[in-house]
Amino acid sequence: MNWTSVLLLALSTLAVSIYVDEPLLYDTFPPDFMWATATSAYQIEGGWDADGKGLSIYDVWMNDSNHVTDGTSGKVACNSYYFYEKDIEALRSLGVSYYRFSISWARVLPDGIGRINQPGIDYYKRLIAALKAANIQPMVTLYHWDLPQALELMGGWLNPSIADWFEEYARLCYTEFGNDVKYWITINEPWVIAYQGYGSGNTAPGTYGPGTFTYQAGHHIILAHAKAYRAYETQFKPTQQGKVGITVNINWYDPKDDQLENIEAAERALQFLGGWIANPIYGSGDYPDVMKQKVGDKSAQQGFNQSRLPEFTAEQKILVRGSADFFGLNYYTSYLTANKIQDISIIDYGYDQDIESYSDPTCYQSSFDWLTITPFGMRKTLQWIKDRFNDPEIIITENGISDRAGNLDDVMRVYYYKHNINSMLKAIKDGVRVTGYAAWSLMDNFEWGNGFTQKFGLFSIDFTTSDLNRTTKASARYYAKLVNDNGFMADQPCNNSPI
Ligand code: GAL
Repeated sequence: MNWTSVLLLALSTLAVSIYVDEPLLYDTFPPDFMWATATSAYQIEGGWDADGKGLSIYDVWMNDSNHVTDGTSGKVACNSYYFYEKDIEALRSLGVSYYRFSISWARVLPDGIGRINQPGIDYYKRLIAALKAANIQPMVTLYHWDLPQALELMGGWLNPSIADWFEEYARLCYTEFGNDVKYWITINEPWVIAYQGYGSGNTAPGTYGPGTFTYQAGHHIILAHAKAYRAYETQFKPTQQGKVGITVNINWYDPKDDQLENIEAAERALQFLGGWIANPIYGSGDYPDVMKQKVGDKSAQQGFNQSRLPEFTAEQKILVRGSADFFGLNYYTSYLTANKIQDISIIDYGYDQDIESYSDPTCYQSSFDWLTITPFGMRKTLQWIKDRFNDPEIIITENGISDRAGNLDDVMRVYYYKHNINSMLKAIKDGVRVTGYAAWSLMDNFEWGNGFTQKFGLFSIDFTTSDLNRTTKASARYYAKLVNDNGFMADQPCNNSPI
């Protein structure tokens, strides 16, 4: 090999391994595209024991300051229970047409089932009325992780009865709010609930069972979702005319190279993460074949007399299959993936996959180690969902980036939104049916185990003051311009950037 070919080889290796921005597409979104921002009850509301609210598993979990890096909790958070008008003012300045927020189950049903707490219902009625008065439509998540503690004491997501408990709660919400809410998301990110809540146990309720409880919780989540969907479909949809979906979190997984075993590993990672929840609901009515095979084989080798992955009965498959009007996607980031046969003695959903994955070190890094800036993954994930799950309507229910500094001149967040939203636009032009987009998040808020140290907001909040005013960041101005233009204008200097 001569020096020229060595140089060419080195350059070509660089070309594949270094992430380079794709050129922006200057075009617009469909005229009725839904622009939104997202939040969740525990992360913003505060009022943790106000007016008869019951305890949730996060009220209990965050009471232990060891569970939060900065020792804080969501007891007050952005105080939206009292300051929701400030949120609406911020939303108004963005010009968005939708706001995705979640209902705290224990605020409306303090014990999870049974007794209704009227002041809790009244709070969400006030919020919805004020949103509508501002011409902003509510997009409501029924469950964003804050299970009533009373239900956790009965086993939480490990108790099969939770499908009925959740249906009762969903019916109450449809009855009380359904005349004004046309988009319902049953459950946010089943993966986090099942694996982190009941698997690794590193978030509430902190139950450990990574290769067993994970799958059982996931199973009950899918059934609970399906029951809530069918309740709406048969009893409420004919008059209320809304749509019900579920939000699945999917990161993109690229193979680390073009070896077949790594290409298969990347698909397997996607199936274990996204297909686990999406295939029963949007696909065949059952878990992905690759999951059934991997978990089944490993369970047998490990001495279990049946697979650790539960089975759906024929009746349940009918209940679950097709139980959604749209696909809610939370997309944040991408990873590189390789095949790796894992230690069979470890009983864990993560190990069941026989993969290893890592962030591409050439991509920009956020303040979270799991979150690098990989806009290309947005377009690929959307196409993957279209191809695998029968071309559903898709709403991006979360997408965003964190920093620790919280600066108002948040140039990295502008970059993230510009390129991710542009990647989504390309997917739409490719024919993927994306109808809405919610930026995570409206404002800096309580980022679970990271307390107030990780900031995702378009608006900043000084959490040391009691007025907790929402202050516009550069990214909010950028997003407002994009929303107002309904796309990317070629004649704008600096690609729509205000900075
Ligand atoms: C999502 C979650 C949000 C928010 C976000 C940023 O998984 O639904 O509540 O915390 O991650 O980490």
